[in-house]
Amino acid sequence: MLGQIEKKIQNFMQEIANINIEQLFSQIISGKMLRSKLILAICPHHPKVIELCAIIEMIQSASLLHDDVIDESEIRRGKPSLNASFGNKNAIMLGDVLYSKAFFELTKMDQRIAQSISNAVIELSRGEIDDVYLSENFNPSQEKYFQMLRDKTASLIGASAECGAILAGLDDVKYKNYGINLGIAFQIIDDVLDVKGDRETLGKPSMRDFKEGKTTLPYIFLYENLPENQKKILVSYFRQDSPKIDEWLKEHFNKYNIIHSVIDQAIRYGDLAIASIKDQKNHLLEEIVDKMIYREF
Ligand code: FPP
Ligand code: MG
Repeated sequence: MLGQIEKKIQNFMQEIANINIEQLFSQIISGKMLRSKLILAICPHHPKVIELCAIIEMIQSASLLHDDVIDESEIRRGKPSLNASFGNKNAIMLGDVLYSKAFFELTKMDQRIAQSISNAVIELSRGEIDDVYLSENFNPSQEKYFQMLRDKTASLIGASAECGAILAGLDDVKYKNYGINLGIAFQIIDDVLDVKGDRETLGKPSMRDFKEGKTTLPYIFLYENLPENQKKILVSYFRQDSPKIDEWLKEHFNKYNIIHSVIDQAIRYGDLAIASIKDQKNHLLEEIVDKMIYREF
């Protein structure tokens, strides 16, 4: 099924009939397709399900192309990012093409689906803006962090599950809740992997978030645990890049058992996701939560 989705995206892109677009698009490496897996687990057979998945994956790819420009990221999925290889202009333009073609196709879907997805894109853009502004200074606020990641990451995952349920004629509120909680857990695990993982498993250098200005949950928890004088040291390391700082951070993450607490938090959101659809008896969805939380650990 995932192969069919990739084919559908290729067909959509070929319909634009432009050799430059096709060449740029051929450089994109496909990801784990979490959102499609989710939709297929909710609604495997509807005649429009492949189109829906393709649309969502195109929006996801567009947002990552733009995000890599915004974050000035050189690496995506272990390879040079499109902006690194072909420049910011090409990355932005290809993102625009993917995004607008996805929206053109979305207009052919049920209005509730079109509204759910377009609202999620408003939220993810709002989340990206908050992320950029939060990155200016060390952010000790859990509330701001959770609001931002609900928007930036969980909204499109929530909308994907909701739309799968709409297509399947199921209770879409339950599935949206499932998706939002899964999305929050997903991002928290990403934050942990950035701190814990190595270059090989991550496909990018580790401990990059804090250097990019992202005060993710491990850093917020560490801040809350540190005594006053050490809080100042942590804040002074914000956006700095040195092996000595990495060592200090690792030592203090260990001392206060931070990673364990952060994983616990992800598990709590995973449990909320499962609780939202408990009565739906969909074991695939429960398995997706488990696999996502325990990836790479
Ligand atoms: C990755 O965050 C970024 C996102 C999940 C969303 C980014 C959204 C936009 C750029 C706005 C979207 C606009 C359109 C037109 C669709 P990250 O930097 O924390 O993750 P990373 O480590 O994978 O880069
Ligand atoms: Mg990024």
